[in-house]
Amino acid sequence: MAPSKQTDEIKSSALDLIGNTPIVALDRLYTGPGRILAKCEFMNPGASIKCRSSLSMIQKARESGELKPGAPVVEVTSGNQGCGLAVVCAVLGHPLTLTMSKGNSVQRAIHMEALGATCIRVPQVEGTYGNVTLADVQAVEKVGLELVEKQNAYYVSQFSNPGNSDAHYETTGPEIWKQTGQHVDAFVATVGTAGTFVGTSRYLKEQDPNIKTYVVEPEGAEPIKGKPITKPLHLLQGSGYGCIPNLFKFEYMDGTLSVSDEEAVKYKNLIGEKEGLYVGYTSGANVAAAVKLLESGVLPEDAWVVTVLNDTGLKYTPVPDELQH
Ligand SMILES: Cc1ncc(COP(=O)(O)O)c(C=O)c1O
Repeated sequence: MAPSKQTDEIKSSALDLIGNTPIVALDRLYTGPGRILAKCEFMNPGASIKCRSSLSMIQKARESGELKPGAPVVEVTSGNQGCGLAVVCAVLGHPLTLTMSKGNSVQRAIHMEALGATCIRVPQVEGTYGNVTLADVQAVEKVGLELVEKQNAYYVSQFSNPGNSDAHYETTGPEIWKQTGQHVDAFVATVGTAGTFVGTSRYLKEQDPNIKTYVVEPEGAEPIKGKPITKPLHLLQGSGYGCIPNLFKFEYMDGTLSVSDEEAVKYKNLIGEKEGLYVGYTSGANVAAAVKLLESGVLPEDAWVVTVLNDTGLKYTPVPDELQH
């Protein structure tokens, strides 16, 4: 018999490594009552949750004919979307150019370029390295849009592309439902484009309308809560831009939880020290918020709160000044 060329154990490409992440109980960090369950999104091939939306948006654009085989792709990114797109475009053979603020961690630019993409780092308007504001993002967008024109490229546009939240409706939500044995009391997540929060919450609420969903916002930058912005600079890169994103839908939200930089750092460190997982700041914020929610008494005592560990801590390790700017 001729040897088979493909088995279930062999993935056809890096695209098959996207999604289906394990869910882990953070039982050492939070001993109860109740439980925090976290999806290990840092295990995606681009080391973040944004691989899911990258694959979904590119696949849908190819299917609709909007993106032709081999055609160039451009996107504006805080880094993780860029890394995810770099994985997908490398495998599918699309030249990729990304624009990113110089305030976002340089590790992400290094990662994208290692996958064959070009990353243009745009000087900051008002933020500092590690703190990126809405004005900084708008400056990055301006450069990105000029490139789209110049290259006649497909513009991914994660902030308004419905394929972004669809990715989470089609994958993250169903995976959580299956992995927990259909036992979810609440879901909490930070909001950048809102793709993760809206897609996952929509799916979970369709399975059980009693599931409570909470947006996690950085203290002082809480537009979804309806508060004026008093602190636009915070550590939660990739989220908390101080505006309500186009993809956000209030109908899938029960409330908001605010987290300070200190709390995000404390829980980022605890996830490492107690659980052996090296993750980024928004993961720390998500877990800080899950603890607050469980301790607030609004859920049943033995509630299961599900959240996402968005990316790896390796994307934030300190770098020398000369690499930052
Ligand atoms: C580290 C990190 N956390 C959270 C998010 C927010 O995800 P979403 O854009 O799906 O709201 C992002 C988005 O880029 C991110 O990079």
